Amino acid sequence: MAGEAIRLLVIGSINMDLVMELEKVPEAGETVLGRSYSYIPGGKGANQAVAAARLGGRVTFCGRVGNDSNGKILSDNLRADNIDTSFLESDDEHQTGLAVIPVEADGENRIMVFPGANDAITRCDIDRAMEQTYDAIIMQLEIPLDMVYYAFDKAKAAGIPVILDTGPAKDISLAKLKGIHVISPNESEARALTGIKVDDWDSGLKAAKKLADASDATYVVIKMGKRGALLYEKGNDAHEIFPAYRVKALDSTAAGDSFTAAMAIKMLEYGDIRSAIAYANAVGALCVSRMGAQPSLPRAEEVEQFLSSRE
Ligand code: RIB
Repeated sequence: MAGEAIRLLVIGSINMDLVMELEKVPEAGETVLGRSYSYIPGGKGANQAVAAARLGGRVTFCGRVGNDSNGKILSDNLRADNIDTSFLESDDEHQTGLAVIPVEADGENRIMVFPGANDAITRCDIDRAMEQTYDAIIMQLEIPLDMVYYAFDKAKAAGIPVILDTGPAKDISLAKLKGIHVISPNESEARALTGIKVDDWDSGLKAAKKLADASDATYVVIKMGKRGALLYEKGNDAHEIFPAYRVKALDSTAAGDSFTAAMAIKMLEYGDIRSAIAYANAVGALCVSRMGAQPSLPRAEEVEQFLSSRE
């Protein structure tokens, strides 16, 4: 597909992130003072849409915001990245999703999400968005699972590959995702899905095999944080390791989102998941070295510069 922009549909969540920088999160009953706070566009779905658009994808976003000021800011923000928001509905009955994210001095975060309008996405929203033609569909689990299964079934019937980022961890039925193209959890999601504690390459491989068996996925890609990524391909008993770049981490928010989006778009562009994962590692590294979700997502030129500086 070299030369043509990849047409991606992202079906998923969109949130306003309230981010507070502090030394350490409080214990129960304790109060601590933060250093700064800001409202930053986020949401796993919207982050993946923005990441893909900045890397050259032709991206359409399907989801819901509330009919409120955050909803307007977030919709405008997607349009500023040339994302088609024709299927981003404004919901009169629910507030825009909100995430509260304390970020500690070492870049560790915790994320609490109020889903609001994200939970109100309908089959009808998905049907309308899927009337257009796409090269692939990306989803996550921050919308109701029924909607994920519904969109997957439709995509499968239409022969469109689906890339599923399994964040946040939920009890999904892998049997309902039979034949998915790529399934990509992080370590804790892989544990939630398989019961295997994933903390090194061996346990990553065991979990990947279990996921592949249960979902019949063509590829399982486990995001292993600072270690990098592990690829398991159906029918191939060996796994491949893609070590992460070492960078100074400021904030890990959206690192996994940026990785999944970059892997998806480059997999279609290069026709090869391995080069796509290597590229996605660079995108994830740039993302963790900056604060916030969408402001930290790099453009293609920045990734090229980063990669040439590491040669
Ligand atoms: O993956 C990071 C995202 O998770 C944040 O932007 C937050 O909104 C939650 O969806």
